[in-house]
Amino acid sequence: MFRRLLQNPVKIVGEYLKEGDLAIDLGCGPGYFSIDMAKLVGRSGKVFAVDLQKEMLEKTRQKAKDRNLEDRMVFHHCPQDRIGLSADIKADFILAFYMVHETPDPEKFLSEVKTLLKPQGKFLLVEPTFHVSKKQFLEMARNVEQLGFKSLGSPSKKGGRSLLLAAA
Ligand SMILES: C[S@@+](CC[C@H](N)C(=O)[O-])C[C@H]1O[C@@H](n2cnc3c(N)ncnc32)[C@H](O)[C@@H]1O
Repeated sequence: MFRRLLQNPVKIVGEYLKEGDLAIDLGCGPGYFSIDMAKLVGRSGKVFAVDLQKEMLEKTRQKAKDRNLEDRMVFHHCPQDRIGLSADIKADFILAFYMVHETPDPEKFLSEVKTLLKPQGKFLLVEPTFHVSKKQFLEMARNVEQLGFKSLGSPSKKGGRSLLLAAA
């Protein structure tokens, strides 16, 4: 597929995931990243695929089923203004790829993301250059630091404007 040449999921998230990890793919869409994430965390890991569109979750579930990965995945349907995962869930890695700009209140959304991250966990936020200007992204970067995230920089070759964050 053409997208894999430009945005290879393993190249983008592979360095942040290992066997046994708990990972969350926020705004998973049809599972483009979730499926590779499920392979990377292995049998003992877990991937929560989260989206507000039931059809997207269904596509992700079907792909997972076809690849025998369903048992290491959870498909979570959320409302638009809340992620709504249990507060007990603490992730080693969270991905929000091309979705934060679609949320109605990014600040509220990102505060909730922070509650889902383990103290040593990492959060990769990637936004599309065609929808989010450099100025808007810099503002987002300032906001996330104000919310208490620690910036680990902007990794290159992540397919858009990127920020790697840790729960400070
Ligand atoms: C541009 S798509 C990206 C999908 C996927 N991350 C990818 O890169 O293939 C954005 C996705 O985010 C989802 N989304 C938008 N706002 C959301 C929200 N507030 N909560 C959860 N998912 C949301 C949309 O339904 C859509 O599937």
